[in-house]
Amino acid sequence: MTHGGIEERFLDLVDVSIAFGKSAIVKHLNLAIRRGEFVSILGPSGCGKTTLLRSIAGFIRCDGQIRLAGGRIDTLPSNRRGAAMVFQNYALFPHLSVFDNVGFGLRHHKVPKPEIETRVREVLATVQLQGFEQRYPRELSGGQQQRVALARAVVLNPKLLLLDEPLSNLDAKLRKDLRKDFLRIHEAAGITSLFVTHDLEEAFSISDRIAVMNHGRIEQFGTPAEIFNRPQTGFVADFVGHSNILAGKAHRDEGGAYLALSPKMSVRLPTPLEGPDDVRFAIPGHLLEISSAPVARDNCFPGRLRKLSYLGPALSYVIDFDGLEISGEIPASRENMKLAAGESVYAGWNASDMIALPGAPS
Ligand SMILES: Nc1ncnc2c1ncn2[C@@H]1O[C@H](COP(=O)(O)OP(=O)(O)O)[C@@H](O)[C@H]1O
Ligand SMILES: [Mg+2]
Repeated sequence: MTHGGIEERFLDLVDVSIAFGKSAIVKHLNLAIRRGEFVSILGPSGCGKTTLLRSIAGFIRCDGQIRLAGGRIDTLPSNRRGAAMVFQNYALFPHLSVFDNVGFGLRHHKVPKPEIETRVREVLATVQLQGFEQRYPRELSGGQQQRVALARAVVLNPKLLLLDEPLSNLDAKLRKDLRKDFLRIHEAAGITSLFVTHDLEEAFSISDRIAVMNHGRIEQFGTPAEIFNRPQTGFVADFVGHSNILAGKAHRDEGGAYLALSPKMSVRLPTPLEGPDDVRFAIPGHLLEISSAPVARDNCFPGRLRKLSYLGPALSYVIDFDGLEISGEIPASRENMKLAAGESVYAGWNASDMIALPGAPS
């Protein structure tokens, strides 16, 4: 087995397993993260994300090895691991001011007072909370409390920042603002961050790479584009939202590869088509194009428009091809806004835009 250097495997989880009593929660998990990377663990509720993060932080014992910056840390107490954690529920000390919450770890490490003063003020500025030093957590909004929690973690200059769904208690607008702040601080501080979420959009918008987790295992680890365009398991395909799925037996001839869905609908598949004849493909809804007349391209079929709805700058719709329903999104342009439910249209897509899916969903 080849092992990259410390930069490549800055955080290195090697065969990590965690059990509560007889139930195995994290199962022989391997994951290596580069220095400075922002990685998300994306998975449904209950798959073991928090458990994994807590074991890296040192709150839960695990089997296997956890290495950080080249040294083994799973044998060290929590406060000597070089990792700082931000929790979903903020977990601030209610009886301490903002200043004392943020300075808590530094005082614990016996950092001299003037240095504490400087570092706390600096970090409060980066999370845009200057002037809030003397407030108490109960006098802050949820977003402000989470900024304090982030400041409290970052002020320790950790090698690794562990973020456990830190945005999930906030409303949608604030969530977007705060995730930009998280990314900015991650970059400015040159920290390596491991961010846990069950929110697809959040993971896709913020991460260098995403580890998709299911039942205590990593099903796939890759860039957002790799996860979306080349899902390696049925679970990943389903979780990243590939809902327009065409399946059946492909037939090949010298002209290409096809999937006959009905006598009128023979879908041209991407070529060369490798592997067995039993195929599953997803059509990304945003790559479907609608026209009032047929267009010469790989795939173009007549259908009926249904369920048009506005999603701000986009229109979502379902198109019914003689019983086969495909959903899509188009820009809410002036032209597209004239479309009405019930209308007969043509919808087309390129064969090369179709995404090959692994076998049956797990
Ligand atoms: N302290 C514990 N004792 C027993 N079971 C636990 C404990 N903590 C978590 N679990 C179980 O472990 C599983 C994974 O939980 P968790 O790591 O919190 O999932 P996630 O963060 O992905 O939602 C769940 O089935 C949960 O009930
Ligand atoms: Mg959790």
